[in-house]
Amino acid sequence: MCGIVGYIGKRNAYPILIKGLHRLEYRGYDSAGVALINAQGQLNIYKAKGKVAELEAYASDKDTTGTIGIAHTRWATHGEPNTVNAHPHYSESERLAIIHNGIIENYAVLKAGLQKEGYSFKSETDTEVLIQLIEYTQVNKHVDLRTAVQLALQQVIGAYAIAVLDKDHPDTLIAARKGSPLVVGVGQEEYFIASDATPIVEYTDKVIYIEDEEVVKLSTKGQSTKGQSTKGQSTKGQSTKDEGIEITTINNVQKTPEIKRLELSLSQLEKGGYPHFMLKEIFEQPRTLADSMRGRVNVRQDNIALSGFIDNKERFMNAKRIIITACGTSWHAGLIAMYAIEEFAQIPVEVEYSSEFRYRKPVINRDDVVIAISQSGETADTLAAIQLAKEKGAFIFSICNVIGASIPRLSNSGCYTHVGPEIGVASTKAFTAQVVALTMLALCIGKEKGTMSEEQYLHVVRALGQIPDKIECVLSQNKRIADFAKTFTYAQNFIYLGRGYNYPVALEGALKLKEISYIHAEGYPAAEMKHGPIALISQEMPVVVVAPRCGTYEKVVSNIQEIKARNGRVIAIVTEGDKMVSKIADYVIEVPETEECLTPLLTVIPLQLLAYHIAVVKGCDVDQPRNLAKSVTVE
Ligand code: F6R
Repeated sequence: MCGIVGYIGKRNAYPILIKGLHRLEYRGYDSAGVALINAQGQLNIYKAKGKVAELEAYASDKDTTGTIGIAHTRWATHGEPNTVNAHPHYSESERLAIIHNGIIENYAVLKAGLQKEGYSFKSETDTEVLIQLIEYTQVNKHVDLRTAVQLALQQVIGAYAIAVLDKDHPDTLIAARKGSPLVVGVGQEEYFIASDATPIVEYTDKVIYIEDEEVVKLSTKGQSTKGQSTKGQSTKGQSTKDEGIEITTINNVQKTPEIKRLELSLSQLEKGGYPHFMLKEIFEQPRTLADSMRGRVNVRQDNIALSGFIDNKERFMNAKRIIITACGTSWHAGLIAMYAIEEFAQIPVEVEYSSEFRYRKPVINRDDVVIAISQSGETADTLAAIQLAKEKGAFIFSICNVIGASIPRLSNSGCYTHVGPEIGVASTKAFTAQVVALTMLALCIGKEKGTMSEEQYLHVVRALGQIPDKIECVLSQNKRIADFAKTFTYAQNFIYLGRGYNYPVALEGALKLKEISYIHAEGYPAAEMKHGPIALISQEMPVVVVAPRCGTYEKVVSNIQEIKARNGRVIAIVTEGDKMVSKIADYVIEVPETEECLTPLLTVIPLQLLAYHIAVVKGCDVDQPRNLAKSVTVE
């Protein structure tokens, strides 16, 4: 939510910042802005409403020189998305500039105090309050910029990743974080800061992950990179010997910077010939799932080894209950896991929206295992939910994609999904990898507890190994799905139905359609249709039914007949060779046969493609749908 990027070094900062903003645009794109200090010591700020391209157009005839700068792409929280509320913000004297990702919760109190001191505010943002507070502190306490930032942040309640410039000190950039991510890139006599490593990767593979309540001072004065080496390994515990980087806490305790080696390649951040990241990510799934299983499902496909489970077996064996907490698509993956864990491990599972769980005074016991699922690892509600569960003594296991993110760092143990960066705002490859990781976990617990037979275990493990190839088969129907997607762009509403393991798939299919095509869609357990939604069925209402040949298949076929009897139009996802549904549905997409618990990994693929193609035909911005941001770091 909001992306921040900064540069200090010898190069012209502007092109680096603009490229960085494009990489971070998935985090928010309501407005964008940049601040640069030029060689004459002027602090220039340029801002534009809308995407980074609007900012580029606006700044095209302006002075964009300067070897130090900060830039921001915004997802609006306080104040509507317009140029005034866009970041960076000047301080009262226009000597300082700030960019901010997060929310200052006590901004109203701080603002009132500053107004009494004669400070005026141009924007409605909480961020402007912070830069005024920093300037007020600097002026009244006669301290340097870093100290002023430290003292100001001591008064702040909320979350922040900030970067601050001072035009009187063009050789220094100050940044800090609490609750919002911040990475420093360490180059040769140059430094980068960003919300994640994507703007940094083409310049350096040396990064420092800033911790909560740390303040980093980057300076080119007296900077030397001599003696610095990180080849191959993280330099955990070693000083960087780089006089250009100083890290302290907001209480001015000195910290030793730890340079880590970045595991990210540039090609992962590019579309690779696809028109959209979302389509690229849908097509990547055979490979990403193979990556998720690599080293975990053994070559003979008869065993699963999850180190996060092996090291903490006792916690799982003693668990009386498993609570799964997540948001959005990750919550849907959690719902699928509930079916798998209860079936294989016979441990009761509760699946909770993190936002509800954290506020409803839940009963959490010391022998509960809490599984947090998050692609980004930064979702504010999920982070708060596990904080609460941890305080109550529960064991926290997280399923995450972004390595080193806040949620895995706070967890006792976990499992990374290893699908690489997911850039399309609508989650696709992260979802299937979460389902794979959770299924592997369910199998590990079931085997260890002896609650599933050896035969069943082997069947599922082998079937899991075959999933990447089977997804290839589903993807080969892309053209056909694209063709019939055109038929449905008229629709104002869609219903998605599924049962058992495929009920969460119906929810996920509906969410995908809503978020990228802006068509209203609802997912239901198929049998619930009769209890209300059937009233909506008419010729105008497309109904997507997920009906693989397993579990309650016959009952779902009856539901399809009920829809057809009311002239609804049915798009059915069925198992290869299905005869019954093919006769009655209007459109049929076949998926290969697999174990029931793994069917979501196949049935969700046509739903991702259907949503994608409908959105494309409608001319929607698939990768950056309106009002959304990839990583929801605010409540
Ligand atoms: C939907 C989507 C969101 C996320 C949700 C949780 O396509 O991407 O619903 O799933 O915001 O995000 P993470 O998984 O990063 O915690």
